[in-house]
Amino acid sequence: MVKEMERQAEKTAVEEIAIDGFDHVEFFVGNALQACYYYHHGFGFDIVGFRGLETGRRDKVSYVLQQGGVRLVITGALNADDEVAQHVHKHGDGVKSIALRVRDAKKCYETAIARGAKSFAEPLTESDEYGTMTTAAVHTYGDTIHTFIERQNYKGNFAPGFKPIEGKVDGGVGLAAIDHCVGNVEVERMDYWVDFYKDVFGFYVYQYFDANDISTKYSSLVSKVMSNKTGSVKLPINEPAIGVRKSQIQEYLDYYLAPGVQHIAIATRDIIGTVAALHARGIEFLKVPRSYYDSLPERVGEIDEDIEELAKLGILVDRESDGYLLQIFTKPVEDRPTLFFEVIQRKGAKGFGKGNFKALFESIEREQESRGNL
Ligand code: FE2
Repeated sequence: MVKEMERQAEKTAVEEIAIDGFDHVEFFVGNALQACYYYHHGFGFDIVGFRGLETGRRDKVSYVLQQGGVRLVITGALNADDEVAQHVHKHGDGVKSIALRVRDAKKCYETAIARGAKSFAEPLTESDEYGTMTTAAVHTYGDTIHTFIERQNYKGNFAPGFKPIEGKVDGGVGLAAIDHCVGNVEVERMDYWVDFYKDVFGFYVYQYFDANDISTKYSSLVSKVMSNKTGSVKLPINEPAIGVRKSQIQEYLDYYLAPGVQHIAIATRDIIGTVAALHARGIEFLKVPRSYYDSLPERVGEIDEDIEELAKLGILVDRESDGYLLQIFTKPVEDRPTLFFEVIQRKGAKGFGKGNFKALFESIEREQESRGNL
């Protein structure tokens, strides 16, 4: 029943594109200044860079936010017909680019194009007093792109054209690194995008969850986790599966009006501290019933954390063969029920919290129902 191919490196036909890891995630939003305030005060990011009218950029404004190894770029439009304005008009606020750190952006781009990827931006080398940076971008699902970022010869705080911002330091809540970025695609399109990551990027299927793994009384989804060999870039792809009622993935698609990024998972080394701080700052999380914690000791065995404390914050736990993980999911962070965040702490476990899927999806469905979308 469970078709799990955990850590079974399914060999791909093509050599992997050399990617070091996630570089940043870029959002296209309706009001970059205000979104920036939310991620600064709500999530504890420092605001470190800016590009806009004051730096000579006439079409877009972007802020660079940083916390630990996590970097977000928040971009808004300065003109009605700009690509950012059009993206926001159709999708609402959302993720435009999952940017990947590479050693040779031109080579990555040319390899991807030769293998059938669609170009979004040709290689561009820019310089300033801090050095040289090369970027290029290809399309992935929906209007989402992957930007290749080659920054080993650049010493500035983000990229040429950005000016540093001083004094917008928060100190953070312990968000340390992007763990994975999940995409939602249409029904029966998951394998198309799985093949895209196999054939173009040379990634492999790290894990597979079928409708039996991820289903409740009402709705279900299927998911395949695409990964590079080192595991530094994990990109799960979900598609809706047929259920009695509307899949949460379908609700996303109905509002985003295209495939797109569903959630960004950020790793922390102290999930209790991180989530307590986020709660205190007003970030809202999905809740699971108290009964989840009653059966927890039996399900996961001995853990370092105090279960009462986990219950108070709503943090979920899952045990795997190599260890366990703790995770929690925010409510959607946009007006539309689309993008949300996950906070995750891994204690040996390398999976995605399969044991939590049922409790989690029932929680999501309660939210869906409250929106009139179940
Ligand atoms: Fe996740």
